Amino acid sequence: MDQPASPSSFVHDGRRYLPVRATSIDHCRLPMDLFLRNGPAGEPTLYRSAGIEFTPQDAARLAENEAEILYIPAQQHGVYRSMIGQRLARLITCPGPAATRAREVRVSCAGLIEDLLASPGQAEAAQAVAEVGAQLARWASADAEGFSQLLDMSVHDFYTATHMVNVAAGCGLLLRAIRPNDRALLPLIVQGGLLHDVGKRGVPETILTKTGRLDPEEWQAIRRHPRIGFEELRAVSGLDPVVLEMARDHHERLDGHGYPNEVSGEKISFAARLCAVVDVYDALTSSRPYRKPLSPVAALGVMAEGVGTHFDPGILTAWCGVVQGLIARDPSRAPVAGEAPQKLTLDSFIQHFERAAPPASGADRRRHPRFKYNTLLKASFQSLGRPCPVRVGEEFPVIALDLGQSGLRIRMPWPPALGDTMTVELPRKGGGAIRQHARVVRVTVNPDGSAHVGLQYEAGAKPATRAA
Ligand SMILES: [Fe+2]
Repeated sequence: MDQPASPSSFVHDGRRYLPVRATSIDHCRLPMDLFLRNGPAGEPTLYRSAGIEFTPQDAARLAENEAEILYIPAQQHGVYRSMIGQRLARLITCPGPAATRAREVRVSCAGLIEDLLASPGQAEAAQAVAEVGAQLARWASADAEGFSQLLDMSVHDFYTATHMVNVAAGCGLLLRAIRPNDRALLPLIVQGGLLHDVGKRGVPETILTKTGRLDPEEWQAIRRHPRIGFEELRAVSGLDPVVLEMARDHHERLDGHGYPNEVSGEKISFAARLCAVVDVYDALTSSRPYRKPLSPVAALGVMAEGVGTHFDPGILTAWCGVVQGLIARDPSRAPVAGEAPQKLTLDSFIQHFERAAPPASGADRRRHPRFKYNTLLKASFQSLGRPCPVRVGEEFPVIALDLGQSGLRIRMPWPPALGDTMTVELPRKGGGAIRQHARVVRVTVNPDGSAHVGLQYEAGAKPATRAA
């Protein structure tokens, strides 16, 4: 599949023209003038005037002549936007196969986003996209199955406008999986997905599609796009702070090594952490000029490496559930036929870090001797300082590395918060177990996203050495 050309606006005789895809025009009596342009520097030529019928035959002829892009005078763009808005409303509510309708909705939404990307400083273009976000959220609430088809899981090229639609669909699905009854946040999350990469307009196409290594200056240009998008959206009245945070913070990482502001952990909003997961997933499953796309399952495997360092563990786990559910319901949506969806559970996290290199020995210089234990234990949290893949009281396996008189050291697939409390079940010799209460006093995050965690027994608890 070819990368779609990136259309751009131009000015001729003091009049600004904005590009639209021929496929985004309804077959109807036209509410606006349509122009063609002969080459990137050519003059605009009137193709159809407002009031003239645009027929399926016209559309076919344009496709035959590879005239993919038409132009509309900027002052008539409001009419174009409302045409698309009305079509979306029809598509969302009309009967018919959900997959077909979703495909048309995707094309129409991408058309509006292209319109936004080609209209710098036009608040109405951003507001039109935000209104579509609200419509899509109503669709997600009324017809979850139909809405789920909006997420394109096929092999597709990365292209900013369609990426933004996919991220919006994924964010909506993910929020519904995590907070099924949060009707207030849903439209904001979908709007944020549709608008999150609007700052990419400020990054030259040559950099976005560069096949070689980015030089420091090019990399800086990429790193600027979240802030540019945030500033632009901030100037649009009526957009919620949730939407702005998604644009600004979707490249931040839990460990503070993201951009643009290198904020970490809970300082990154829930909406932005959610957007980060879907954004990377869609980027990995899209093809780029410099690499092939990953299958959904392979992408989830790569993302698991970033649990706790890049991605919020609870949100990534929920996303795995969403993707697995979609593939299970319709395997033909995934690009690799016959590839069984890998269940990304705590077990797979454990397997992942069991394969990792063992910790260096001789690092323990504590006063009290410890002995190597290196076995699986059952643990459960009593209190949690931040979201994680398990709830308080829910059992999960950890690897005990060593035990001492005052505490133990375990390895976990994601880093807990300092001060979290947990119960660890230590098996007794000859059967039975003792439940030991402990507090997280030290956390070291490993390069693979797992963590070495120092636990101190809570006062009054029996030392584990007596129990083992
Ligand atoms: Fe981005």
